[in-house]
Amino acid sequence: MSSSAARHRQELAGLLASEKGVTDRRWIEAVAAVPRELFLGDAVFHPDDGAQGTLWRPVRRDRTDPETWSRMAYADRSWVTQVDGVLAEDATRALPGAPTSSSTLPSLVVKMLERAEIAEGDRVLEIGTGTGYSTGLLCERLGAGQVTSVEFDPAVAARARAALESAGHAPALIVGDGLTAYDRDAEYDRLIATCSVRYIPAPWIWQVRDGGTITTPLSGWLGGTVLAHLTVEPGGAGGRFLPDELSFMFARPHDRPSRAHYLLRLGEQRETRIAPAVLDDPAARFVAQLGVPSAELLGAGDHVVLLDVATGSQATTEPAPGGGWRVRQHGPLRLWDAAEDAIETWREAGSPPVSAFGLTVAPQGQRVWLGDPGGPSWSLPA
Ligand SMILES: C[S@@+](CC[C@H](N)C(=O)[O-])C[C@H]1O[C@@H](n2cnc3c(N)ncnc32)[C@H](O)[C@@H]1O
Repeated sequence: MSSSAARHRQELAGLLASEKGVTDRRWIEAVAAVPRELFLGDAVFHPDDGAQGTLWRPVRRDRTDPETWSRMAYADRSWVTQVDGVLAEDATRALPGAPTSSSTLPSLVVKMLERAEIAEGDRVLEIGTGTGYSTGLLCERLGAGQVTSVEFDPAVAARARAALESAGHAPALIVGDGLTAYDRDAEYDRLIATCSVRYIPAPWIWQVRDGGTITTPLSGWLGGTVLAHLTVEPGGAGGRFLPDELSFMFARPHDRPSRAHYLLRLGEQRETRIAPAVLDDPAARFVAQLGVPSAELLGAGDHVVLLDVATGSQATTEPAPGGGWRVRQHGPLRLWDAAEDAIETWREAGSPPVSAFGLTVAPQGQRVWLGDPGGPSWSLPA
């Protein structure tokens, strides 16, 4: 291990404590001990943003220049390690496409571990091993015997296993779909996901003891994401969302089905009640998504297209010639009406932050509520 890596690791630990709001000394110590450079393997992707979108350029580790690699490894940023199923080590050219695995930025990883209130003695189930870095932090603090981590992608899982071994940790690593695979005898104190879900998978409730917690990014195809922190109770779970702004790749089975193209359909026209650009605000986007839980968002600003994956319904906005905006809606669902209704309910409550919302998971369904569980609420597509 190079001396520059040891120095950069200490600097990252110091940064998390001094500037990133991490207060739990035990997590700072874990960051100071876990060699993140091992978890990045021999290559990562750098994003090159261009007119055609982002191209992911593989950057290989140069063993003659450990300083550069170590500076990169200990930057507080996410590093993409797989794009559309191709590992950075295997890429021979820059690739278009979507990241499918990464090492999340350390400040967010640690903030989530803190938010999950994980402490000594806890048995933890992590969904989304990825590079294994967050698994390594868990092992460092709790001991590998307390940690189980599930990774969907076998090649990613193999890479993480090797990195964890070389860092001296041997937690239970499972290759499979962490949303469905489960161990009937397991009783975890904490479940933490590092990929986002559209609703809480039932097996998560079954695997966490009553009084234990689930901490997960909760997202939708409009791109609104919140961090849910739920306490499990007999038959369900509930809790408020945390105030953190975040974005995570989807858990693979929850991602939007792929769409090669769509035909723009116009349909009924009316003036909008709200400016379409409100969806540029992350909290407003999350709220609108509650109204249209199976729609995706294309465009931004005044020109927004909502496309419903389930029914093919569409809503398209544009500036109106006389001022304001107009929307055209096509198909069985009036997507813009539903998004506007949700936004107006939120505005009537004073446009509070996402921490004013929470989620109740019950056998009858999953509902996001505003204010308290008896307040206005919306069903998740569980
Ligand atoms: C953002 S990365 C994880 C970051 C990781 N914890 C780290 O610190 O390196 C998300 C990971 O979740 C994995 N994943 C996606 N869907 C999954 C699923 N259903 N079950 C288990 N893992 C999943 C992806 O393959 C990806 O490796």
